[in-house]
Amino acid sequence: MSVEINKQGDVAVITINNPAVNALGHAVRAGIADQIAAANADAAVAAIVLTGAGRFFSAGADISEFGKASQEPILPAVCQAIEDSAKPVVAALPGPALGGGCELTLSCHARIALATAEVGLPEVKLGLIPGAGGTQRLPRLIGAKAAFAIMLDGEPLKAKKALDAGILDAVVESDVVAAAVAHARSLAGKPLRRTGALTIPAEQREAFEAAATAALKKDPESPNVPALVDCVRAAFDKPFAEAMAFEREQFVKLLKNERSIALRHVFFAERGAARVADAPKDTKARNVGKVAIIGAGTMGGGIAMSFVAAGVPVILIENDKEALERGVSRVAGNYDFSVSRGSMTEARKAELMGRIDGRVGLEAAADADLVIEAVFEEMTVKKDVFGKLDKIAKKGAILATNTSYLNVDDIAAATARPADVVGLHFFSPANVMKLLEIVRAKHTAPDVLVTAVALARKIGKMPVVVGNCHGFVGNRMLARRSQQVERLLTEGALPQQVDAALRTFGFRMGPCAMSDLAGLDISWRMRKATGQKAPVADALCEAGRFGQKAGRGYYLYQDGRTPTPDPEVEQLLAKVSAAQGVTRRAISEEEITQRLIYPMINEGTRILAEGIAARSADIDVVWVHGYNFPRWRGGPMHYADQVGLKHIAERLEAYSKATGDESLAPAPLLRELADKGGSFAKGTPGG
Ligand code: NAI
Repeated sequence: MSVEINKQGDVAVITINNPAVNALGHAVRAGIADQIAAANADAAVAAIVLTGAGRFFSAGADISEFGKASQEPILPAVCQAIEDSAKPVVAALPGPALGGGCELTLSCHARIALATAEVGLPEVKLGLIPGAGGTQRLPRLIGAKAAFAIMLDGEPLKAKKALDAGILDAVVESDVVAAAVAHARSLAGKPLRRTGALTIPAEQREAFEAAATAALKKDPESPNVPALVDCVRAAFDKPFAEAMAFEREQFVKLLKNERSIALRHVFFAERGAARVADAPKDTKARNVGKVAIIGAGTMGGGIAMSFVAAGVPVILIENDKEALERGVSRVAGNYDFSVSRGSMTEARKAELMGRIDGRVGLEAAADADLVIEAVFEEMTVKKDVFGKLDKIAKKGAILATNTSYLNVDDIAAATARPADVVGLHFFSPANVMKLLEIVRAKHTAPDVLVTAVALARKIGKMPVVVGNCHGFVGNRMLARRSQQVERLLTEGALPQQVDAALRTFGFRMGPCAMSDLAGLDISWRMRKATGQKAPVADALCEAGRFGQKAGRGYYLYQDGRTPTPDPEVEQLLAKVSAAQGVTRRAISEEEITQRLIYPMINEGTRILAEGIAARSADIDVVWVHGYNFPRWRGGPMHYADQVGLKHIAERLEAYSKATGDESLAPAPLLRELADKGGSFAKGTPGG
């Protein structure tokens, strides 16, 4: 039985019992509706309590029913039956009431929760809106502005906060069902407060509209925020039943909306990406109390900030005193900036700085449980550090490298304990960027990976476990895009056209402005050292155009920060084209977009075929969190599925032929999927 009934005197207690989270599948919905009707028909029952068995009240909709036709009774009808009940219904929350679970409680006549419970409407994170009266009942219950903020944020409220907000009527430390039974009994025979019958005072309108305008501006491409706004407006303007029908209509529309589907895809991909393929289920994480970071440069400092913000003290290690002081004061400078903007207090800064123990010499890593190396990107330097660490670090310590490109197997080989070596590829700025590529080398032990995932979560990062190859997942795909930027600029496009195309696609910044921001000189020096060429970027650097910091790069920065197109760059491009015997031509925005995005997808296909990424969705998480790929497009691989792999393969083929660039030819797996009508999400039909 997924819904149970028992009587405590004249109070009927209806218990949702559908492990593990009391999801509101069809049987549960029908069970609640039946029991509410039965309790109303039973003369011996004076009042009703609705609760959940186990740790949850209910975590909401049964996601396995997503995308299927909904079976009656649908949740809004069950909620209505509860609200219309002639006998009082009190919700007793032993734990979280989320999404549809929360909406069930909103239709009850009162709500009592254990202090450890939480309530929330997280639908916005799934590209949806509450669809069972949440957008109507919550504003009526607690006010439009407060309700909108909660629904827009999607984060659950702890019981105490929910009580203060007016969502809960009482919070108890124990025996929540007993408290609810007593309260229900006290309501019997009295007029009931039916949430749907409340009205929202018109004077709340202005404050809500201001919040709505800000939200729409912040997330202009969102499919569901406008719907949420419209539903709350309906709560002001329409009679309850009509407004409920409007909410339902919006909800059903979103279920089929491409952007909403993409947001759902990313939501579930984020949960899946940290899974360590083939690690036994009972793999235990190693205990990590002490963390040492080697190298207090750009990355080392940022990584240290990530740990101390999460309350984990770090030992920050440099070669010499000067470098250490420089590194530590750079971190302090970062905090000072936050203090000056008012987003951090001096006291908090002192607390965080107090967790950073700066030391000179690798010996300081001796008792660390995790050592993260972030020294120069040079194999000889890395090997030297790992060789020494092997002698210094304690047994069982995890030895991690933050390398962006280098072979983690080779780094591990400098130690006698390759099973303890892993790549932890943070992104810059490391205290801000969410992505963490956890690089699994040939000998990396499963418990090392499991530990890395747990730690990533602890410090608020988004972990994705990837395989070992040049550039791993993200940078390897990025290289394909960078290659095309070079070619497009050589063939006739201008930086502003290239950037505009990707901004139209949904990136916040185009690749040229991005390179200017990062500085062009570092990769130029790297290319010179390795004998590689990038004619346009090389020419810019030779002209001293190192990017924003130099006041000139792909653009001119007259005020130091605003990119403006520069005629000098146009002349420089003309020279590069001429030197390569290329006649410049006008290139359409469509071609620019496709030539920047499709080759990345092509490389993603190779990454999949090689098993560097376990799932195409993992690649999407990397791009959404590491490179600002528009979330509402679902990541490159999801986007490819939506556009159709056949189209992508055909365009790549055509561009490859037209430009003579063989790197653009569709990868074998892409060709195969395209030919068979397959997709990244589903593979090949029947295969
Ligand atoms: P950086 O040059 O800013 O910092 C490196 C620091 O390591 C310097 O302060 C240097 O004094 C120190 N160092 C060098 N050898 C050392 C040794 N034997 N012992 C202790 N300290 C030593 O370099 P950055 O940018 O922080 O990069 C570090 C690593 O992170 C590289 O492997 C890089 O590829 C990787 N990375 C860099 C990203 C970026 O955007 N800058 C992004 C992701 C990874």
